[in-house]
Amino acid sequence: MSVCKNIEQLRAQISEWRSNKETIAFVPTMGNLHAGHLSLVELAQQKAVHVVVSIYVNPLQFSPDEDFSSYPRTLEEDLKKLEAIGTDLVFVPDTSMIYPRGETKSSFVEVPVLSHIIEGEFRPGFFRGVSTVVLKLFNMVQPDYAVFGEKDFQQLLIIKQMVNDLNLPIEIVAAAIKREADGLAMSSRNNYLNPSDREKSCLLSQALMACRRQIEQGISIEQAEKSCVDALQNHGFLVDYVTLRETMGLEKVSKSDINANNELIILAAAKIGNTRLIDNMKFVIIDKT
Ligand code: PAJ
Repeated sequence: MSVCKNIEQLRAQISEWRSNKETIAFVPTMGNLHAGHLSLVELAQQKAVHVVVSIYVNPLQFSPDEDFSSYPRTLEEDLKKLEAIGTDLVFVPDTSMIYPRGETKSSFVEVPVLSHIIEGEFRPGFFRGVSTVVLKLFNMVQPDYAVFGEKDFQQLLIIKQMVNDLNLPIEIVAAAIKREADGLAMSSRNNYLNPSDREKSCLLSQALMACRRQIEQGISIEQAEKSCVDALQNHGFLVDYVTLRETMGLEKVSKSDINANNELIILAAAKIGNTRLIDNMKFVIIDKT
C-alpha cells in the first residue's frame, strides 16, 4: 500500500495506472476509520482494479462552533486497517495542499437547493465545504468510481447532483449503512459518547423504525414525525429534525405519495449529551390495491 502525502506523488501513481488502462475507485474519508468506512473500501474493490482512500479532516465543512480541532485523528491505526484489507493507495493531504490560498479565499462549489434543506438548515456552509473538497479530491484522484455511504444520505445526493450538473465522468456508488449490533449507525463521532449516552444512542434507530411502522400503518405523517420527536425527547435527546421525504430529491411527501410505491426515507438528527447523531431509514410502501 502506498501512502501519498502530496499531489505529485498521487498523480504519478494515478498516471501509471491510467496508462495501463486500469480502473480506479475512490473512497473519500475524514479518517478514524470504522467498519462502515471499510465496507465502502470493499465495495470499491468490487468496482475497480485499484482503490484510493483519502484521509483529510476538511476545515471548510466545520463551523467555528463545531468539533474540527477535537475531531479524532488516528492515522496510524487507519493505515493499518486499510493495509489489512488490501487498499492500493492512501492519500493524506494537509490543508496547505488542499487550500494553498487559505480555505476562505479559495474558489468553491455549491449544489443549490439540496445543500440548504434539512441538515443544511442546521449546518449552514456544511455542504458547500463538503462539495468543494470532494470536487477538489475528484480532480486530484480522477477516479472512475467514487463510493459514498447512505449514512450521510443527503451528502450522497448532493455529490450525485454535483457530478451530474458538472458533467464529471465519475460513477457514484452508494453503500448501505453499517450499524452496531444494537442498531446505532457507525460513526467516528460515536467515540464521543460516554457509557450512559452510548446506551441511549441506539434509541435513535429504534425511533426511526417505530416511525416507519406508524407510517406503514397509515398514521398521518405529522403525527408519526411528532411521536418520533416526543419519544426521543423523553429519553433526553435534543432533536434537530425528524422528517419523512422521498429519496430522489428529498422533497416532502404527502399522504398520496405514500401510496404510490415511491421510495421514502425518514431522516433524523439529534443530540445526546454533547454528541450529535444523524441516521436515516429507507423504505417503500407497496400499494396493495
Ligand atoms: P466521513 O464521515 O469520514 O465518512 C466517509 C464516508 O463513509 C462517507 O461516504 C460516509 O457516508 C461513509 N460512512 C460513514 N459512516 C458510515 C456507516 N455507518 N455506514 C456506511 N457508510 C458510512 O463523510 C465524510 O467523511 C466527509 O464529509 C467527506 C465526504 C470525506 C468530505 O470531507
